[in-house]
Amino acid sequence: MSKITAAITAVGAYVPEYVLTNDILATMVDTNDEWITTRTGIKERRILKDANQGTSFLGIKAAEDLIAKKNLDPKEIDMVIFATATPDLPVAATAAYAASKIGAVNAFSYDLQAACSSFLYGMSTAASYIEAGRYKKVLLIGADKMSSIIDYKDRTTCIIFGDGAGAALFEPNEEGLGLQDEYLRSDGIGREFLKIEAGGSILPPSEETIAKDLHFVRQDGKTVFKYAVSNMADASTKIMERNNINGDDVDWLVAHQANKRIIDATANRMGLDPKKVLMNIHRYGNTTSATLPLLLSDYEKQLKKGDNIVFASFGGGFTWGSIFLKWAYNS
Ligand code: UT7
Repeated sequence: MSKITAAITAVGAYVPEYVLTNDILATMVDTNDEWITTRTGIKERRILKDANQGTSFLGIKAAEDLIAKKNLDPKEIDMVIFATATPDLPVAATAAYAASKIGAVNAFSYDLQAACSSFLYGMSTAASYIEAGRYKKVLLIGADKMSSIIDYKDRTTCIIFGDGAGAALFEPNEEGLGLQDEYLRSDGIGREFLKIEAGGSILPPSEETIAKDLHFVRQDGKTVFKYAVSNMADASTKIMERNNINGDDVDWLVAHQANKRIIDATANRMGLDPKKVLMNIHRYGNTTSATLPLLLSDYEKQLKKGDNIVFASFGGGFTWGSIFLKWAYNS
């Protein structure tokens, strides 16, 4: 019997309408379009303006997009994984709410939190259930309402992040397509450099934490940048070596969109033609758990059955890694 591999068989996406441009940000903090563009590659990002809507709103829309495009009966979905760093509520699983809302009434569901690597790790989790033969349809949603944890007085973070969502369906494949290999790592040293100080079990929210703005995300950008460049490039080259593929064999790099300079450095180490590097950071900024599926959705028409894709990410924790996947369909 041939081994079951786990393939992505459909994708969906959603970004909110409101566009926050570099020029608008320059009216809010001491920055300018030229600095942001040259240091990050970002021109604009989307923001969910409706204060009554959380991350689930974005994720549900992305899942509904996938369901409509695939003409999928949501009752057939066995499992929903909701990858996010900004759940609707600290305890109730956002996944459970989203699964019910999309009509996945026969699914069980849970959230997966690994900061910017949440979707990449979720790919590993979704694929494992499929490869084991345990489930046939696993829906992986990656969504973040980053604007809910951003201090719009802090020019070092507010220029980077945006809101968005994407979704991918994993199903068994008997042609050997889908996830081939993964190299995933983490290092707890990272929590000193990228975190929200308060609101967790170490420092529960209080009047004092709010007054000190400790409920916003902060990062030591320079240090995170250094770790991101070396680890994302290492993971991506390792997965190529392990699978005996070189820059010519790789059709696409689907990398976390945190900073164009980090993505370029990774592609360079991999020996990739820049045309193979999928990029949408200029339009959305860093949407944390949503960057990878947003790329798949934006470039879906260019992806061909059998294409070799290297996924890569780096994020808070630290968490990082790389996945080698063969694309399974033409759209
Ligand atoms: O997705 C999760 C992982 N996160 C990342 O991968 C992010 C990694 N880090 C980065 O992408 C970059 O470090 C940043 C984009 C955050 C910052 O870029 P940088 O080239 O590392 O700038 P820097 O922090 O070294 O700052 C250089 C200068 C400083 O001024 P001085 O001290 O040289 O006078 C900053 O105060 O730029 C200043 N600066 C700004 N100037 C205009 C910092 N932010 C801004 C800004 N506009 N928005």
